[in-house]
Amino acid sequence: MNVLTLKSELQKILSDCKKNTKTIGFVPTMGALHKGHLSLVKRALTQNDCVVVSIFVNPTQFNNATDLEKYPRTLKNDVALLATLSNKIIVFAPEAKAFYDGMVKSKKYRFGGLENEMEGKHRKGHFNGVATVVSMLLKTVGPTVAYFGEKDFQQLQIIKKLVEIENIPVQIVGCPIVREPNGLAMSSRNKRLTEKQREEATFIYQTLTEVKEKFNDLSIPKLTKLVVSRFKNHSFLQLEYFEIANEKTLKTAKRKQKNTPYRAFIAVHAGAVRLIDNMALN
Ligand code: PAJ
Repeated sequence: MNVLTLKSELQKILSDCKKNTKTIGFVPTMGALHKGHLSLVKRALTQNDCVVVSIFVNPTQFNNATDLEKYPRTLKNDVALLATLSNKIIVFAPEAKAFYDGMVKSKKYRFGGLENEMEGKHRKGHFNGVATVVSMLLKTVGPTVAYFGEKDFQQLQIIKKLVEIENIPVQIVGCPIVREPNGLAMSSRNKRLTEKQREEATFIYQTLTEVKEKFNDLSIPKLTKLVVSRFKNHSFLQLEYFEIANEKTLKTAKRKQKNTPYRAFIAVHAGAVRLIDNMALN
């Protein structure tokens, strides 16, 4: 397994790939890998000759210093997990200062309003950080295809817009959410949950499923009220937001319109851990 920390080393190896007109698949991650990440890597391996996985806890996308500090860092284990899939994977795990050429700062972006909804409202500056690092990574790797999870659905839509705005020649592929057997969406942050919180957090999935089941029968305001009331008296989970939005614009929907795809989005705090999830409704 190649584990590289410098852009120059990575580009040297990739130039051989590119010479032979091979396709490069790219999976950007922040590490603490789980089956959700691995599903993206597996897809990349089946569709490309060369696969790059980046592992980089990007400081510019954290709006909360404790969250950044507590973010799990398990590089050795991550590399071992990737090696179980293929030892041909190229791992890129740079240091922040070197990667950012000394200036660890994000650029300011506009994504036609996508950046102002949900996570954008609740995590100021988050998407500027994500877009900055993803743009830099895509330009460093130069992949044919890059894979992102629907777990971070808003992020996926923003990345699609980013490559359009910056004219980056890459295909962006969205991959379905991988869940624990009890329904909890896999996340690196789940590692910070206690056994009890992990169990209780399945309530998020159960609530989204209930909303999906009732979507045809209840109005959007009624469904929203229902979710708020479900969480009101929950002793382990605090609701930060619940929204039903148009999947394309991510604007909160007030009433259902024909031929429009809707998705439910939720952010919840389980103690000090913030969890997000979403589900297609129609
Ligand atoms: P991270 O949270 O590590 O996620 C890396 C990729 O894995 C993202 O595309 C995310 O949506 C996907 N992913 C995470 N959990 C998943 C699950 N349960 N099912 C399917 N896919 C899942 O997202 C980031 O890192 C960062 O913002 C990044 C894009 C790497 C930029 O720093």
